[in-house]
Amino acid sequence: MTTVIKNGTIVTHDRTYKADVLIEGERIVEIGEGLKGDTELDATGCYVMPGGIDPHTHLEMPFMGTYSTDDFDSGTRAALAGGTTMVVDFALPSPGQGLLDALQMWDNKSGRAHCDFSYHMAVTWWSEQVFDEMKTVIETRGINTFKHFMAYKGALMVNDDEMFASFKRLAELGGTAMVHAENGDVVAELSARLLAEGNSGPEAHAYSRPSQVEGEAVNRAIMIADMAGVPLYVVHVSCEEAHEAIRRARQQGKRVWGEPLIQHLTLDESEYFNADWDHAARRVMSPPFRNKAHQDSLWAGLQSGSLSVVATDHCAFTTEQKRYGVGDFTKIPNGTGGLEDRMPMLWTYGVGTGRLTPEEFVAVTSTNVAKVLNCYPKKGAILPGADADIVVWDPEKEKTITAGAQVSAIDYNVFEGHKVKGLPRFTLTRGHVAVYDGEMRSREGHGQFVARKGNTATNTALSKWKDLTAPRPVERTGIPATGV
Ligand code: URP
Ligand code: ZN
Ligand code: ZN
Ligand code: ZN
Repeated sequence: MTTVIKNGTIVTHDRTYKADVLIEGERIVEIGEGLKGDTELDATGCYVMPGGIDPHTHLEMPFMGTYSTDDFDSGTRAALAGGTTMVVDFALPSPGQGLLDALQMWDNKSGRAHCDFSYHMAVTWWSEQVFDEMKTVIETRGINTFKHFMAYKGALMVNDDEMFASFKRLAELGGTAMVHAENGDVVAELSARLLAEGNSGPEAHAYSRPSQVEGEAVNRAIMIADMAGVPLYVVHVSCEEAHEAIRRARQQGKRVWGEPLIQHLTLDESEYFNADWDHAARRVMSPPFRNKAHQDSLWAGLQSGSLSVVATDHCAFTTEQKRYGVGDFTKIPNGTGGLEDRMPMLWTYGVGTGRLTPEEFVAVTSTNVAKVLNCYPKKGAILPGADADIVVWDPEKEKTITAGAQVSAIDYNVFEGHKVKGLPRFTLTRGHVAVYDGEMRSREGHGQFVARKGNTATNTALSKWKDLTAPRPVERTGIPATGV
């Protein structure tokens, strides 16, 4: 069976041109003029782009005494509805649990996926078992990215010695380190003080995590990664202090990438001052939303290339779950949704305002991610041989975001009321048309795991340089005799 996408304008990270796209089975086989197929999708007036890749989701994740509500079924359906065709979820061992054990748990959940997916591995504790299993995770399981939580003290947080040990191991194995960068010790102390002073509402969540805790941790992670000789990916970059550290590191030639979220780009801290407790608590996530100056910094980072990708950190809790934290903000499950809205929101507030070009949009929502995570050009490309993960994007299609019409399983949407212009006409996942002119035709279980090899070109270049510049004893002549 062949399908041809006709009359559209192809937009990739580096080119915009008119051509048809021919798909056979699950792959793109030809790009050109006047192509014919068994079925046709009309892309008149539309852009034909690589499907979005969301490099940061938490589907059905055990966290803060509960599970995030969107799972691999509803989460990946929401993704496809918004033009995202691949998600990368974090496999999270509880402290004391082996990495391979945690992966088994994630395998048990991900069979329901409607689009392709991959995993990052989290390192939440340190031991010889973790050290040993890291090799199997990279070499046998095809997972080359490992996240370290510098926050959530007493739960997922790792200390500097554990982080340095893990980073060194990743350098040796050809992996990439990721960090959730917030100083967990300072957050714990600020939280306790705020509670003692009677600040128990959701706004105190933001007070307990000022931008300095993030800036400090990003700087620390960059320096530790540099000493270990490992590439570093900083998740959910929300503020200028964090961006500044990443910008400087990149200017110095360090291999560091920064990932802002669509939430931090478009929503600000005023959400926490809303008089409605539920409204504010639904927006509690770490790091918290910031002010306009921080938002401007993140947009500038995407424009200049100092920040590389836009994600969601999709971790959706219902209002009922958020209410676990009534009377104590530290018990509000941290996390917000965004999978369905990332592409339309970024198009509207990025391309629609002139902050991003369509090609930059493709770069930060898909191609850069695929390159950094090492699954390009299988993903993130409109090229013969690439998976037919494609979004046919109608720049004139509009809607107002509302929870009542969303695919996500939760009862609200943090972007409620936002008008977006630019939505999928068709979304294809490995050749299967999962969204057809607004109608969901996705299939549970269609999604496949995407293996990502270690020892990337970046790993090789970095280790070559580290080796060349490693400390060496000086060869000397005329060494004085000892004790004379
Ligand atoms: O608040 C957040 N970000 N929740 C999800 C877990 C994490 O820290 O990424
Ligand atoms: Zn995080
Ligand atoms: Zn996260
Ligand atoms: Zn299928």
